[in-house]
Amino acid sequence: MNQLAGKIKKLMKCSLFAHSVNTLKFANQIADKQKSEIDIYRLSVACLLHDYGKIFDREQLKAIIREHHLEVSSQELKFNSVLHAIAGDFLVSRDFDISDKKILNAIRYHTTGYCDMNTEDKILLIADKAEEGRIYGGASDIRELALKDINLCLIEVYKNTIIYVINKGKPLHPDTGRVWNNICGGN
Ligand SMILES: [Fe+2]
Repeated sequence: MNQLAGKIKKLMKCSLFAHSVNTLKFANQIADKQKSEIDIYRLSVACLLHDYGKIFDREQLKAIIREHHLEVSSQELKFNSVLHAIAGDFLVSRDFDISDKKILNAIRYHTTGYCDMNTEDKILLIADKAEEGRIYGGASDIRELALKDINLCLIEVYKNTIIYVINKGKPLHPDTGRVWNNICGGN
């Protein structure tokens, strides 16, 4: 793990590396509170690498997606904040020689999530949004809830995301809407 962290540190800007390490630290704290067994190795690798796609700019990411025919709809391509995740699993497998499907899937879906996520993927998504460097209003409440009940916390994370997107007047990613309906029992 130290070797992997060393390689990532050389490639990422300091702030992005600090966020990745903070995500790893908080994910481990959340994992400690779970009753079910957590795959800490997979979770930790996914935390360190979840934002690796961010070392590429928007146009580079779009070019990578086109060039390698990554599975993405034309609608999804319009969501700039998700491009690093859409290309992220491919980039991590290419540049770090990681082929573990669970790690790659966690990276691919860490921004929007998916219906019926496994516990490790829920933890990554929550830790990414609530690590100690996150200072938006309500972040400390999310941090507190994450250590008590990850399912309730997930609802709060989605609620915050959806309200933020609506307040910005931006479109909602279809997966975010799908997960929200799913966790609220809508479908
Ligand atoms: Fe992140």
